[in-house]
Amino acid sequence: MDGALREMRSEDGVLVPKAVIGTNAWGDALYGKMVRGSYVTEDVMLEAVKTAVRVGIPFFDTARDYGLGKGQPIVGRLCGDDTVVSAKYTPMGKYKQGQVRASFEKDLLDFQRSCVDIYWLHLPNAIEENLSEMIDLYREGRIGNIGVSNFNLKECRQAKVILDKAGVPLYGVQNHYSLLDRKWEKDGLTSWCKENGISFWAWAVLEEGMLVPPKKDEKNSIMKLMFARKRRKLYPLYKTMQEIGRKHRLKIPQVAMCYVSSKGFVPICGCRKPYQVEELAAAVSEKLSDEEIRLLEDAADATGVKILGADMFRFAVKKK
Ligand SMILES: NC(=O)c1ccc[n+]([C@@H]2O[C@H](COP(=O)([O-])OP(=O)(O)OC[C@H]3O[C@@H](n4cnc5c(N)ncnc54)[C@H](OP(=O)(O)O)[C@@H]3O)[C@@H](O)[C@H]2O)c1
Repeated sequence: MDGALREMRSEDGVLVPKAVIGTNAWGDALYGKMVRGSYVTEDVMLEAVKTAVRVGIPFFDTARDYGLGKGQPIVGRLCGDDTVVSAKYTPMGKYKQGQVRASFEKDLLDFQRSCVDIYWLHLPNAIEENLSEMIDLYREGRIGNIGVSNFNLKECRQAKVILDKAGVPLYGVQNHYSLLDRKWEKDGLTSWCKENGISFWAWAVLEEGMLVPPKKDEKNSIMKLMFARKRRKLYPLYKTMQEIGRKHRLKIPQVAMCYVSSKGFVPICGCRKPYQVEELAAAVSEKLSDEEIRLLEDAADATGVKILGADMFRFAVKKK
């Protein structure tokens, strides 16, 4: 592992990112234009990767379905030894023995690597069976850390018991969390993570771009069209974010990123362009005061707006 990456570990050797680059939007021209409203070439993404290494946040979060299947191979082509890859196994359908290992082998081909730094169980389906396979891969040294994603508190506890029995640490929980949606904090999941030394990674801290005020020349994406009415209700929140951001020299989206890191969580932000990576790194190097956090939360709650929903993938969880 690269020397700079070694410094991003705690005394116990645990990886502690200040922020993570999300690659959900990394894909080809068709996907970019149809789904994301705009397309970014691999040259631009490569510059974003180089920027992430330079500014000290070389962490890339991905999954097999990102960019309609194009995201992972792009991560493999662009992210070198000086980066950390965070990938996932998505359990859908009936559990079949060996499914995690088979999928993991394909992931390694995408990444052109012999191991993955952090591997998440993407949904709480067949928890025991899927985690057992991940534990085997961890013991073989092919997975550096095991995490769970889109798990509620009960499911996280269950995962921890399984991992504890095997003597394997639960590295992290990766769930949706943003200024607009703090369900996992209210439910006690984030404090349980803190009490147990488990990292909490917050995905979609910008609510898929809705915590970014619209620009005049903005290109529409499916998300932007879907949430246009809700976005209009966010203007009073943008104003509060702007006022607080001014004191820290942060733009409105950066306030949303800084809010999450100031709460002690790891923000995962979808970045495709170098300037976005720069802004993410600058945002997490600031810290909001308790009073600023309270003002932001009050302004967010006053809008009454929810965009993605903290538990939006519950529909994909099989009933027991
Ligand atoms: N575990 C899970 O189940 C799960 C689910 C969803 C997502 N995730 C992870 O979380 C990551 C983040 O989610 P996301 O990418 O869907 O949404 P997001 O980070 O909430 O928002 C991405 C949007 O924000 C914009 N943006 C990024 N940086 C900006 C900046 N500095 N200024 C203004 N706008 C900025 C992007 O613009 P452009 O369109 O111009 O690039 C894009 O429209 C994903 O990439 C993925 O890694 C995990």
